[in-house]
Amino acid sequence: KFYQNFIEDNRWKYIAEGLGITLEVTFFAVIIGIVIGFLVAIVRSTYDKTGKLKILNVICKIYLTVIRGTPVVVQLLIIYFVIFASTDVDKVIVAIMAFGLNSGAYVSEIFRSGIMSIDNGQFEAGRSLGFNYVQTMIYIIMPQAFKNVLPALGNEFIVLLKETSVSGYIALQDLTKGGDIIRSRTYDALFPLLAVAFIYLIMVMIFTKLVNMLERRLRSSDH
Ligand code: ARG
Repeated sequence: KFYQNFIEDNRWKYIAEGLGITLEVTFFAVIIGIVIGFLVAIVRSTYDKTGKLKILNVICKIYLTVIRGTPVVVQLLIIYFVIFASTDVDKVIVAIMAFGLNSGAYVSEIFRSGIMSIDNGQFEAGRSLGFNYVQTMIYIIMPQAFKNVLPALGNEFIVLLKETSVSGYIALQDLTKGGDIIRSRTYDALFPLLAVAFIYLIMVMIFTKLVNMLERRLRSSDH
């Protein structure tokens, strides 16, 4: 019966369009998160290693403290209802900004731990080859660090994908909201919500597989 109705009254549209929104928000938020995370990690590591960029380092620390100290839903609500209150900016853009800004804080710590995981001897080796600080970072530290942070980075993507499910708080019709709308209109909770859960699960499983494959590839150059 549900399945019949599902096809008949375009119920699947809420799911399909919601899934589109979820993927769009996740994709762009991941990119923003990685860019911010990279920059913040560079500033923080440079300060740790050389004592330079003191002021930027303070700014980054404040950013990390505030973002990680408050729930992402609250950040989303503030960006939508306070910062963009008097504009008619697209909700998708707001969600991308909120989740990207949020993810950047976590990603920066992932990158920073990756950089710290590389033995200082590698750093000295680079410098003794005549590389300057930036060259050592780019050619010696980063490639090794990236390999080490890949699992954590993959995990961050999964967290972010699922975290976008709170987008409904600003009435953005993502996958979760789509399923919930079907629930409220049909009085059938089980099927739409199970369908939503199933779709997230499939996406996470596919993505996990991809990360594992990439990881194996990168490791294969180790021996
Ligand atoms: N749900 C938690 C929060 O609201 C954790 C968010 C974690 N986000 C991340 N990108 N790792 O703050």
